[in-house]
Amino acid sequence: MSMEKTVLVFGATGQQGGAVARALRSRGWLVRALVRDPAAEKARALEAAGIDLHRGDFSDSASVAAAMSGVHGVFSVQPSSGQGPVHGISDEQELRYGKAVADLSLAHGVRHLVYTSVGAAGKGHTGLGHFDMKTEIEDHIRSLGIRSTILRPAAFMEMLLLPGMGLDRGTYAFFMRPGQTMQCIAVDDIGKVAETVFSDPERFGGRTIEIAGDEMTGNGLQDLFSRAAGRTITYHRFPDGLLEQDRLLGRLAELVDDGRCAGAADIQALRQEFGGLLSLEQWLSGPGRPLFEAALEAPGGTVALR
Ligand SMILES: NC(=O)c1ccc[n+]([C@@H]2O[C@H](COP(=O)([O-])OP(=O)(O)OC[C@H]3O[C@@H](n4cnc5c(N)ncnc54)[C@H](OP(=O)(O)O)[C@@H]3O)[C@@H](O)[C@H]2O)c1
Repeated sequence: MSMEKTVLVFGATGQQGGAVARALRSRGWLVRALVRDPAAEKARALEAAGIDLHRGDFSDSASVAAAMSGVHGVFSVQPSSGQGPVHGISDEQELRYGKAVADLSLAHGVRHLVYTSVGAAGKGHTGLGHFDMKTEIEDHIRSLGIRSTILRPAAFMEMLLLPGMGLDRGTYAFFMRPGQTMQCIAVDDIGKVAETVFSDPERFGGRTIEIAGDEMTGNGLQDLFSRAAGRTITYHRFPDGLLEQDRLLGRLAELVDDGRCAGAADIQALRQEFGGLLSLEQWLSGPGRPLFEAALEAPGGTVALR
């Protein structure tokens, strides 16, 4: 059945949308990607993989509406204010764009909207716009009555290897205390989960699913990274001074401490429902290996979390 159906994917030149577009295409779906620049390298790679490009921009709602013509499903992701001044958008834009995609999906008779949110959403006000906007977008989607599935991904494994965490100096810093647990997921597994969700709207419609493939502690990362690097990597939490000085990092650390950013996905149940989601160790020795090797060489700098 999927061979006859088209899914419109937003953010397909990015991490989550790219994984979803590839997973759908590999299972025979017709995929349409709304892209800002069809000539960009990542857009051309999508086209080469058999994905139809539709030029558009969230800020141009007519272009979003036109892309929805005749589609069965929509995968909705927005960049967030948490992504910083270069790639980020304002909280107000994230909210407006996320709601508009849902409203237009309803207006165009889309049969299944899949919205990717975040693990910390729906757990009370966090004070971080890119979490609180997602809670509001989720609520808006549920209020519309459109068949929808909301995914709440944990921290991306890819984010662990952004520059600035210290691997080049034989150390590694992140949010958890050494014995504290935090969940994570490989971006490709978000694609796998979303494809499964689109393939069974009856089963997944109306559900909100927190997703993660593994959980890690600081001590666990120290062991894993040391084994993978073939030399000692010492773990420590981001220093208190940094957490006080950088309010985004500081607030994220508080939300790890109170559990909302630590994650509460039922990983066993997810493995049964969606098949083998990658553990951090599997990801690190597979798709994450090039990122790990690059991070071992990359000179330290400011932490650039997204
Ligand atoms: N990092 C994490 O651990 C984590 C965990 C859970 C949730 N999240 C959430 O994930 C979201 C980001 O997802 P991602 O990492 O997949 O994004 P990403 O890789 O940064 O990609 C963003 C995508 O949005 C597109 N885009 C940007 N502005 C646009 C506009 N005005 N109109 C249309 N398309 C536009 C970009 O296209 P171009 O190629 O044209 O720039 C790109 O395809 C954020 O909301 C974040 O809060 C992150």
